[in-house]
Amino acid sequence: MSETARLILDGKEYEFPVVTGSENEKAIDISKLRATTGYITLDYGFKNTGSTQSAITYLDGENGILRYRGYTIEELAEKASFLEVSFLLIYGELPNQKELDYFQGSITHHTLVHENMKSFFEAFPPGAHPMGMLSSMISSLSTFYKDSQNPNRSIEDIEKTIHRLIAKLPTLAAQAYKHNMGHPTVYPSNDLGYCGNFLNMMFALPTEDYTVDPVVESALNKLLILHADHEQNCSASTVRIVGSSQANLYSSISAGIAALWGPLHGGANQAVIEMLESIKDDGGNLQKWIDKAKDKTDSFRLMGFGHRVYKNFDPRAKIIKKAADEVLEKLGVNDPVLDIAKQLEEVALNDPYFVERGLYPNVDFYSGIIYRALNIPTDMFTVMFALGRLSGWIAQWKEMHENNEPIGRPRQIYTGATVRSYAPIESRD
Ligand code: CMC
Repeated sequence: MSETARLILDGKEYEFPVVTGSENEKAIDISKLRATTGYITLDYGFKNTGSTQSAITYLDGENGILRYRGYTIEELAEKASFLEVSFLLIYGELPNQKELDYFQGSITHHTLVHENMKSFFEAFPPGAHPMGMLSSMISSLSTFYKDSQNPNRSIEDIEKTIHRLIAKLPTLAAQAYKHNMGHPTVYPSNDLGYCGNFLNMMFALPTEDYTVDPVVESALNKLLILHADHEQNCSASTVRIVGSSQANLYSSISAGIAALWGPLHGGANQAVIEMLESIKDDGGNLQKWIDKAKDKTDSFRLMGFGHRVYKNFDPRAKIIKKAADEVLEKLGVNDPVLDIAKQLEEVALNDPYFVERGLYPNVDFYSGIIYRALNIPTDMFTVMFALGRLSGWIAQWKEMHENNEPIGRPRQIYTGATVRSYAPIESRD
């Protein structure tokens, strides 16, 4: 017999089906709640609300488990390439050699961006935040590809848009960096791999030779995989909800980039390094900063700590911490900020405030330290997150359409004034 949940409202009893996921996750299906009872549910921040059934990513916050399509994040981060993982997320299975060759070839084929986009970059003020530039540039891509704007587009058009996005995001990200540096654009190199090509576009200069360091390339590959998807987070939900209006994929991804930028989400990686720098410049008094984070009259939070879902540990943070040690050692970098991060983690993890609330280092706590070692500037950190998350956003958008999900449109409980009459201006106080 299928499980149901019973609800008693105004003395009447209603039954709702219980939905069980493949990992035994349970939900009460309330899709008929309003129609049958006249009530809606109220759940600020959707802390208890499932917005969809998804087969992409499994996350168990209590046990620190993260899997893409059934594969553990630990195994993928160690063995896979970012493009393989992107294929897995978007199409549901790891590619065979032929599929990977085609996917990689098509992405390589689309890496150039229209030359007109250069003039958009020129219009941005010096020092413009790269996330602002990236979000605008991705949205403007839709104006170059009119076939992407038709809501009844063909599978071929969607495929082309997906490949174009994966191909062009690194090109635009590197151009945003070059714009801020005042350096000439480096065009994509089709003989380099996905990560190598991005590094080359970032760091090659007309004045000197640049060769991609395999240590840097492999670290970047790992970071992109770790960030590739994280089920219904703020930016993925944004992409799904924007896409549910049948907005084109470029616009939906642009909205996802904007959502990611916030310091409570992907912007935390930039905020972490800025915080660690401030602690260092302030003399390294860790307790002072811990106390600030605990003080409810102070808006300061320990950036890189806490997570909506992980209340025990973030498996991505474990992998990144280890990778940070390895990368810094291999590159011979000695970053004093890493020591501060480790000490801060130690103090926080022994403080009842953080322990009781299940606040642990998240993915962003150590990722910035690796990015610094790779010479990525601080304001590009969230861009790096976006490069990884793109394939997850695409997978979420595609799944939402394949499931024929309705337009996202939450309800509300109205708390404003009840009906009143318009008063002439001279009679108002
Ligand atoms: N420093 C100090 N206190 C914190 C922190 C923190 N970083 N995070 C949560 N708390 C406290 C919070 O004040 C609250 O305390 P109380 O119960 O006394 O009111 C309690 O912990 C629960 O916090 P919450 O804000 O209700 O939790 P949430 O699930 O709504 O927020 C979060 C999750 C990630 C937004 C939050 O932990 C935070 O602001 N962390 C810092 C920003 C950060 O590192 N974000 C990156 C998240 S991982 C990357 C990604 O996937 O986006």
